Amino acid sequence: MKEASPKIEEYPVGSILGQEELDAIKRVIESGQPLTRGPEVELFEKEFAEYCNVKHAVAVSSCGAALHIAMQILNLTDKDEVICQGNSFWAAYAPLLERNVTIKVADVDPDSLNIDADKIESLITEKTKAIYITHHGGNPADIVPIREIAHRHGIVVIEDAAHALGAEYKGKKIGSDSDIACFSFSTLKNITTLGEGGMIVSNRREWHEIAQGLRTNFPYGERIKRQASNLGDYPKPKSVAFMHPGDAWDYEWKSIMEVGKTYRMSTPQAAVGRVQLKKLDRFNSIRENIANRYNDAIDNIKGLRKVKILPGCKHAWHLFTFFLDYGGEINRNDLVKYIEEKYNIHIVIRFWPMHLGGIMRMRGHGMGECPNLERAWFNEQLSLPISPQMREWEIKRVIDALTETMEDFRNR
Ligand SMILES: Cc1ncc(COP(=O)(O)O)c(C=O)c1O
Repeated sequence: MKEASPKIEEYPVGSILGQEELDAIKRVIESGQPLTRGPEVELFEKEFAEYCNVKHAVAVSSCGAALHIAMQILNLTDKDEVICQGNSFWAAYAPLLERNVTIKVADVDPDSLNIDADKIESLITEKTKAIYITHHGGNPADIVPIREIAHRHGIVVIEDAAHALGAEYKGKKIGSDSDIACFSFSTLKNITTLGEGGMIVSNRREWHEIAQGLRTNFPYGERIKRQASNLGDYPKPKSVAFMHPGDAWDYEWKSIMEVGKTYRMSTPQAAVGRVQLKKLDRFNSIRENIANRYNDAIDNIKGLRKVKILPGCKHAWHLFTFFLDYGGEINRNDLVKYIEEKYNIHIVIRFWPMHLGGIMRMRGHGMGECPNLERAWFNEQLSLPISPQMREWEIKRVIDALTETMEDFRNR
């Protein structure tokens, strides 16, 4: 009997962890520094901000937490509207749904799966507060015209940059010019802080300070500085652990707009993040080499189309996406099944059109709202495993399998 070939699928960890990461954890534990709010957290934030060339960064427990904080910074309510691309990840939608914010769903560019900048303006009303975009798979969205539209209407762009660690838009790192950008370090991402983690970056000092408070339970609202710095006979202590320093002594509160959650990143996670950050460019260039080889193969296979990357942009290749371009003669799902059954290669297709999910259908959304995304999702979109951990034989076998499968399908 013919032996089944070993399975090729996404590696459960998207980066490579080794002795340096173990040493970083050991260093934190042995130093006796607190396992939360230790100095490594601030150092990681500083180094991440420098890497992205952005003024401020706040380390948090996940990109989902960063997106929640972003929504809180804007203090969105059920009176507000936002625009979100159809294939956003659930973590961007969830805080909006919780607040009952109206979501206008924008279609994507069928060649990049990023939001189509031309589809945004017609969705803006006087209630619109923000445009949520995702750099799909790490491929930079056309951020400058999007920002230009947003700023012309006095609204904010929230970037879900979970996939875009190290990606560049026309020579500038994603995050560098952002209103707010949210990154993920969860297990599959280009670097990880031990399985979970995120970063929220911004150039606005005020938003940075609000984010710092919201990740650690503090309220955010209207408060005024007061004269007294004694509370009764109790003088203000030099350091106030686990409270907003000086809050009880120095401020009078007028209203609360938001209350923070416990969204901190732990000290060992941040220490590992610092080590991983130094390796990010190397991991990304391994990803890029694999992507180039896949793309070279796709160029030579009739019936496939490469993902579109904007001129001068650098893809982070978190996902390797491409398209079936065969006028409906080949069924995409049959192709995926064939590659899985014949070659034992697992293909994951991301992300579900949000407007077709149960919750959004309950809110009146549905089929036909994003024709480009629907066509891509149901008929054209494909992906291949990509990771700095991939071995040469895996890359070669994926390319051979794709080439042979397309030949088999064309000859059917
Ligand atoms: C596009 C996108 N945004 C946000 C997230 C959420 O990231 P986290 O798991 O760090 O909350 C993910 C996670 O996979 C994602 O793919």
